[in-house]
Amino acid sequence: MTFPTSYNPAKQAEILQPCVQACIDLALNLKQLHWNVQGPNFKPVHEFLDEIIDHARAASDEIAERIVTLGKPAIGQRASLDDPSIPTAQDQLVSDHSTLKQTEDMLETTIAHLRSTQKALADIDPVSEDMIIGILANLEKDHWMVRSHLT
Ligand SMILES: [Fe+2]
Repeated sequence: MTFPTSYNPAKQAEILQPCVQACIDLALNLKQLHWNVQGPNFKPVHEFLDEIIDHARAASDEIAERIVTLGKPAIGQRASLDDPSIPTAQDQLVSDHSTLKQTEDMLETTIAHLRSTQKALADIDPVSEDMIIGILANLEKDHWMVRSHLT
C-alpha cells in the first residue's frame, strides 16, 4: 500500500491529542453544572446538559481511538493532561441562566479547539478531518440550542 507523502501518523496524532483533552474537560465541567444547577428551569437544563455530555464523551472516545489507530497512545487521565483547556465551572450551586451561559462559553471554546484542529488536518489527514467535522456538527448544534435558550 502506498501512502501519500503527507502521511505522518505521529504528527496527525499529536494534532488530535488536544481535542481529546478539550472534550474530556467539556464533559467534566458540564457534569459539574448538571449537578449544581438550580432555578425554575432546573429539570430541562439538568437533562439537556446530560445530552451534551454524552456527545462530548463520545467525541473524546472517537478521537482517542483514532490516535491509537495512528499508532500513538491516547492520553485521557485528567491528572496527565495540561491545565483546563476550556472555562471551568465553579464549585458551587449555579442558577439555571448562569449554567446556560457557562455552557455556551465552554462549547464556544471547545468548538474553537476543534475548528483549528480541523484546519490543521485538512491537507494531511482527511480521515481524521472528517471525524472532527462530524463531531463539530454535533457540538455546533448543541451550541445553537443552548444559545436559543439565552435569547
Ligand atoms: Fe445525573
